[in-house]
Amino acid sequence: MLDMPSRPARTTVAGPFRPRVPPPLTRPLGLFAFLKKVRENPIATWMDAHFEEFVVAGETAMGRVTVVSDPALVRYLLVERAANYRKDDLQKRVLAPGLGNGLLTAEGDEWRLQRRTLAPIFSARHVAGFVSQMDAAGARLGRRLARRDGATVDVALEMTRATLDVLERTIFTQGLPGDPDALGRAITRLLESIGPIDPLDVFGFPAFVPRLGRLRARPALRFFAEVVDTLLEQRKAALARGEAPHDLMTLLLAAQDPETGRGLSDIEVKANIVTFIAAGHETTANALTWALYCLSQDEAARTRVEAEADAAAGPDGALRLDRLPFTKAVMEETMRLFPPVPFLSRQALREDRLGRVKIPRNSTVIIAPWVMHRHRKLWDEPDAFMPERFFGSARDAIERFAYLPFGAGPRICIGQSFSVQEATLVLAQVARAVRLTLPADHPPVTPLHRVTLRPKDGLRMVAQRRT
Ligand code: HEM
Repeated sequence: MLDMPSRPARTTVAGPFRPRVPPPLTRPLGLFAFLKKVRENPIATWMDAHFEEFVVAGETAMGRVTVVSDPALVRYLLVERAANYRKDDLQKRVLAPGLGNGLLTAEGDEWRLQRRTLAPIFSARHVAGFVSQMDAAGARLGRRLARRDGATVDVALEMTRATLDVLERTIFTQGLPGDPDALGRAITRLLESIGPIDPLDVFGFPAFVPRLGRLRARPALRFFAEVVDTLLEQRKAALARGEAPHDLMTLLLAAQDPETGRGLSDIEVKANIVTFIAAGHETTANALTWALYCLSQDEAARTRVEAEADAAAGPDGALRLDRLPFTKAVMEETMRLFPPVPFLSRQALREDRLGRVKIPRNSTVIIAPWVMHRHRKLWDEPDAFMPERFFGSARDAIERFAYLPFGAGPRICIGQSFSVQEATLVLAQVARAVRLTLPADHPPVTPLHRVTLRPKDGLRMVAQRRT
């Protein structure tokens, strides 16, 4: 039974669903208004021109910034001339204290070596080997939601739990013997402490100025490091006995640079465990949250996902991934409209030219999936939710460098196929178990850019058990 009136879902008869988002600005803001808006919600600072032109250059509070949205130029910047466009210091300032020198924050030779060593871990074969863990985590979530039949659930929180569940099982298989919750607690405390962006980092204050968030992070980091140290020692012993399970920790310990045969040090293994958790949980959780919101507003797509998920389940309830092409298309369309990483920033090491536009040395270049995915020259109906774009042969018509939820070039997300596989399975398991509807009194659902893109006032939906 539903205890709340539900907002009727829109049908395709009324035209496709167009989610509400901050409208682009028609005029540039003054410096203080701009800084205020950047703090509130950076995606509210984009202007009409960004969605209509392929290159927009200007002087800003952070120096000269060139926003590039032409797929051919994006390819040039991220692939052909990648060596001249280094990942901007911002990410490093914000993330490095928590992540150590894992793959996301490493640079230069250290990054190259780690990337070569880690790439095989995320090969199609290894990722396919995680289907059952991901499916099982989706099924656990489905059962949890079905038990809440008729109640209002915090969808964003539930999706975060599910993605942490997936990471816990795929990195560590099982947690610490004797205290099954210790690992979950360690991860949650770690994430709480490294989550928020400190404004001192955004504006480049030197590292010796103490950051409140970082001081809070220290005990959490220490606790996490101790838990992982214990797990590492246990795993090394299991490896020596030839009894290690197939998970990311075993793969990290066994990984070797294909050129030199060198393995990862314990410090590198730990830094990458933290990196996978930090880079992989909130991004995927937000993609799932937005997908459930979009489906609640598009009855035809929701019914199709439900039917596909029902048909893809075997007698034991386990899903066949290859039978979920429309569910996957829903995830891809969701990440077009709500890219979890809304912009990538790069710093030009040497002066360069993009046609008539000069890129001065040390200036910033921004490639913004948020902008490109809604660019009026690149998409029909850019603001409409239309999963069919990514279904079947229509998918082939999408230009490679116009769709960038995972970036491109040498620093492309290493977890891309891992997270698409995970999100497809989890979404399908949720669709099998419950139908989620938005209550009539829910505040407008709009995106807020905080590291990733999340619903500003959260997302609470009413769960109706399906089976
Ligand atoms: C929907 C989910 C995800 C999205 C949208 C996403 C997006 C991205 C993007 C855009 C980048 C490139 C950043 C840049 O070029 O500046 C990136 C890098 C990275 N991601 Fe993901 N990611 C997701 C899930 C994951 C998962 C599940 C993992 C690990 C298990 C992961 C690990 C990484 C790592 C290690 C890097 C750095 C790669 C490098 O610099 O060589 N991500 N991600």
